[in-house]
Amino acid sequence: MTTTTCADADADAVQDDTLEGRIRRDPARFRVLTGDRPTGALHLGHYFGTLHNRVRLQDLGVEVFVLIADYQVLTDRDVAERLTATMEGLLLDYLAVGVDPERSVIFNHSAVPALNQLMLPFLSLVSVAELGRNPTVKDEITHSRQASVSGLMFTYPVHQAADILFCKGNLVPVGQDQLPHLEVTRTVARRFNERYGPVFPEPDALLSAVPQLLGTDGTKMSKSRANSIALGAGTDETARLIKGATTDADRHITYDPEGRPGVSGLVLLAALCLDRDPHDVAEEIGGGGAAALKRTVTDAVNTRLAPMRARRAEYARDMGYVRSVLRAGNERANAIADATLTQVREAMGGLGRGPAS
Ligand code: TRP
Repeated sequence: MTTTTCADADADAVQDDTLEGRIRRDPARFRVLTGDRPTGALHLGHYFGTLHNRVRLQDLGVEVFVLIADYQVLTDRDVAERLTATMEGLLLDYLAVGVDPERSVIFNHSAVPALNQLMLPFLSLVSVAELGRNPTVKDEITHSRQASVSGLMFTYPVHQAADILFCKGNLVPVGQDQLPHLEVTRTVARRFNERYGPVFPEPDALLSAVPQLLGTDGTKMSKSRANSIALGAGTDETARLIKGATTDADRHITYDPEGRPGVSGLVLLAALCLDRDPHDVAEEIGGGGAAALKRTVTDAVNTRLAPMRARRAEYARDMGYVRSVLRAGNERANAIADATLTQVREAMGGLGRGPAS
């Protein structure tokens, strides 16, 4: 497993044998697959946790595939609500942060049938006991709004293996919670290759070095907890959300994530937006109290997001173009998925060939 930091990224790539060093030396050898469930607007936690890194990899010359995981919405709820609007919001966010459709591929599950069909052979490669041990799935089952656990909830990590392996992705930038899923993908790839011959890479995780951002209530920033600042939010809404954020009674601002999660979450947010060290940011505010802290955070967020929000608004005026980006991405993803499925069927002894005539 490889963890990278910005300092690593700046290190001399020639001598650097870490994953990051290998990416910088030979970006064309890597193909990135990442994705988001379209359950709500993308927010600052997504930006610093993963979106920023996707664009960085794209700009290094790595081919990047971005999946809007629409089938995965149904893991913990009965119906996908407002799906079209949410997907259009995601497309706008991707374009606004700098995902370039000339170099990267944006696509969605339900538009790529051959990707989904890979799930069948893949399911045959994992045991029910293995599926039941996945800690992220266990946690999601605990928090699910459904009365019972669906088969999709139980098996979606295998679907995620299909997401990654259909395009032979070998690099997956993820947060900590996705590591068990990546292990499933590696297991599926390894077992498939052992059983049927070499077809798939065993992808590496590229862990984000950024500590998890907290929401305005001091708990995990989440689309569903109404504690996040959306990339597409306006400046006034941003100010209002930060104004309402949880702090504490100690006027002296410090960076102490364990002891003072609320205050430290805000300090971290400002520091990330300003590309500065959170301890320095806290020290500078010092005795200014929560009001000064919130002013600093609001300015930092609004300044950092201003160019992205401007681009987002521009793209929003041309939704015909935005939809065409997804159409083109789906075409490309389908061509790749069809080729992989053909290869898989051949490797498995001619499945899908039909009766010989
Ligand atoms: N599970 C991811 C999330 O909830 C989304 C996702 C779906 C994904 N398929 C993927 C991420 C494949 C990485 C690789 O955010």
